[in-house]
Amino acid sequence: MCGIIGYIGDKKIIPLLINGLKKLEYRGYDSAGICVRENQELRTIKSKGRISELESKKELNSLNPDLGIAHTRWATHGIPDEKNAHPHTDCKNQLAIVHNGIIENYSSLKKLLEKEGHEIKSETDSEIIAHLIEKFYKDDLEEALIKALKLTEGAYGLALISKNEKKILAARKGSPLVIGVGEKEMFLASDVPAILEHTKKVIYLHDNEIATLTKEGYQVKHMNGEYVNKEIHEIKYSVENLEKGNFKHFMLKEIFEQPQAIGNTLRGRIKNQLKLTLNLDLSSIKRIILTACGTSWHSALIGKHLIEKFTRIPAEVDYASEFRYRNPILTEDDLVVVISQSGETADTLAALREASARNAKTIGIVNVVGSTITREVNSGIYLHAGPETGVASTKAFTSQVLALLLLALYIRQEKGLALDKEILEEINLLPEKIQKTLEISDYVRTIAEKFKDSKNFLYFGRGINFPVALEGALKLKEISYIHAEGYPAAEMKHGPIALVDENMPCVFLATKSELSQKVLSNIEEVRARKGKIISVVNDRNSEYKNFSDFVIEVPETLEELSPIINSIPLQLLAYHIADLKGLDVDKPRNLAKSVTVE
Ligand code: F6R
Repeated sequence: MCGIIGYIGDKKIIPLLINGLKKLEYRGYDSAGICVRENQELRTIKSKGRISELESKKELNSLNPDLGIAHTRWATHGIPDEKNAHPHTDCKNQLAIVHNGIIENYSSLKKLLEKEGHEIKSETDSEIIAHLIEKFYKDDLEEALIKALKLTEGAYGLALISKNEKKILAARKGSPLVIGVGEKEMFLASDVPAILEHTKKVIYLHDNEIATLTKEGYQVKHMNGEYVNKEIHEIKYSVENLEKGNFKHFMLKEIFEQPQAIGNTLRGRIKNQLKLTLNLDLSSIKRIILTACGTSWHSALIGKHLIEKFTRIPAEVDYASEFRYRNPILTEDDLVVVISQSGETADTLAALREASARNAKTIGIVNVVGSTITREVNSGIYLHAGPETGVASTKAFTSQVLALLLLALYIRQEKGLALDKEILEEINLLPEKIQKTLEISDYVRTIAEKFKDSKNFLYFGRGINFPVALEGALKLKEISYIHAEGYPAAEMKHGPIALVDENMPCVFLATKSELSQKVLSNIEEVRARKGKIISVVNDRNSEYKNFSDFVIEVPETLEELSPIINSIPLQLLAYHIADLKGLDVDKPRNLAKSVTVE
């Protein structure tokens, strides 16, 4: 949510900052801005809209600065316009900040500052920080920053520059920041992609830490003034992983990367036995609570089925945003599993902290290596799905489902229960079967052509495939802006069937299961009301064909693995509809990739 980049060094600063912002655009894209230091003066240039609009500003061409910071915004306080775009400066234009997060007590701070004569120009909470620093700034920028931050409540990842000093300051509480270490140059960013083309050596800033970057190096202190020795991490993926290649959109590329992503989630973890290095005693666990947001919450719903089936330990699923505030009953015999692609989602992180504070055991299922959640859990399973740039999650979702299946089977194994050889074999076949499933993309596009102008969609599934229906509906809503809902198929007659007429496309997840016959009855009920039926099947001889307007055939697998395969046609359907409508698939309106605010 919002992207930050900063640079100090000898490279050409404007293109470096603009290119870095482009790599972060998935984090927010309603306005952008840049502030650089040139001849000991600060120059700020902002624009409404995408980075390309900022890039086209002529004023940028004449600048020759020695350092700079830049920001791409996802609005929280104040509409997306030039005045509210970051960087924000103080009254004297002597210092500038870019900020991710939310300052919760900003209105009381604003009143205080206005009383003292500060002129606040924007409607944002972030600008307050610039004025607070100004209030305390005499000759020590770091001291002023610490004093200012001590007055704030809420979350921040921020960068600060002053016209008087050749350095960039950074501070973090709740919003991620990473320092890139170069040779006689230093970088700062809210996420690794922004700086990866320049360095693979990074330092993750932790909460309550303040960093000072100069051309020669960096130093990190805790807010209490103590120096902190930071570990330098080496990033394992390269810039090519962050390019679209021959694909029109990142989302399509990431859908097609699923055979590799699933293969990477599996790698080294399954032979005759399951190998997960959890280093956590799970023998006393009596209950498992899965918590997450959005698409990750859908994988949690599937995880509940898998955990209960394979371990017979009761499992519950909670939206992280609800869990954190509902005074949950937890003991040390509970295992809380937090699921997050980014590892930075504010609500999921808060849910994890709630669980840790109540002594529950915690496991993270996370994609982004080194993210905040991975540092705060007792143990974890990395997805290794590779960077996900499209705002709508695809490969991370299927990898999450696989990781949850591995966790369920691992707990079963730890309990001394037998593992079924067939399921291990089927898991190993997943990359191949996903590859096969992707062959339906062109056919799904022909279905998309028929329904791209529909106003509504219904998705139906049962059992372990009900969450797949929810996920299919979410994908469609997010990127095509078509209203869609997912239901357990049997619930249809308790309400949603009232919506069905000849204009209503109904997607049925009808792959083989114990309940297949019942799903067939639901399909017949929709057909009797002239609804348009698109069914996803894996049984060539099934009767569904006779009752469906469109049949999407996917490879056969075990029911427990079917959510992974069945999600793929639904991702493709959402993608092709959005693309045919000419929409910005990778950056849907009002959304951002990493939701680091409440
Ligand atoms: C939907 C989507 C979001 C995220 C949600 C949680 O396509 O991407 O619903 O799943 O914001 O994000 P993570 O998994 O990063 O915690």
